[in-house]
Amino acid sequence: MTMLEVKNLRASYGRIPVLHGVDFSVERGAFIGILGHNGMGKTTLLKTILGQLPASDGEILLEGVDVTRDPAHVRASLGIGCVPQGREIFPKLSVEENLKMGLLRLKGGEVETRPAFERILEEFPRLKPLLDRSGGVLSGGEQQILAIARSLCGNPKLLMLDEPAEGIQPSIVEEIIEILRRLRVSRGLTVVLVEQKLDFIAALVDSTFVIQRGRITGSIPTDGLADTAVVREFVGFGQS
Ligand SMILES: Nc1ncnc2c1ncn2[C@@H]1O[C@H](COP(=O)(O)OP(=O)(O)OP(=O)(O)O)[C@@H](O)[C@H]1O
Ligand SMILES: [Mg+2]
Repeated sequence: MTMLEVKNLRASYGRIPVLHGVDFSVERGAFIGILGHNGMGKTTLLKTILGQLPASDGEILLEGVDVTRDPAHVRASLGIGCVPQGREIFPKLSVEENLKMGLLRLKGGEVETRPAFERILEEFPRLKPLLDRSGGVLSGGEQQILAIARSLCGNPKLLMLDEPAEGIQPSIVEEIIEILRRLRVSRGLTVVLVEQKLDFIAALVDSTFVIQRGRITGSIPTDGLADTAVVREFVGFGQS
């Protein structure tokens, strides 16, 4: 079963086109990467899938259902979640309040949110001692873990992460890898991972699509990510 299918997707900022017909699909339970230089349209692609930016053409299907014209909150309730670039946690709210913002999406009130909150704390035990702390005083890595935990509060089937290892210290990058591997098994999550760090992406994904100037121009199997020559040929860079 296909979780996500993107067909001939186009999007613009005002009159400036950025996505020029993006095609790719992700099977249920798969982890795929999207690799591309700065400014190639990675964040724009995620925003268009999320419904934060309208598609000017093309289709977005979630488990076969066309969501291309649905508003962002409908797509979220159908199971599309996101960890945005730069984390975007609320710095003045406590860790607990940040998580509760993520839980607002659940409809069942306290009956549904309490077990969801408990589940998140079991999955992210390192957040427990931080619950009363302001989001803004956490380290970058802790904020990223909070952003991942918050994204799971809405119980997504498909989680899209936008450069989660950007500016994060290596020990926490390792921890994020472990967290995502565990969630793959425990929640059966499907993941779209936008990244520029090759070793991070290689540790997690089944295969990687390359985006160049608003189009998917190829795909690289995970063992090819370790081969600098292969990556250079597709993307034009080979450093992680
Ligand atoms: N809000 C905006 N208004 C106008 N143009 C934008 C806007 N956001 C992005 N762009 C332009 O769209 C293009 C793609 O940007 P996008 O943010 O999708 O790239 P990216 O691949 O995510 O880059 P990075 O790796 O730096 O995050 C760039 O040329 C960028 O300047
Ligand atoms: Mg980006």
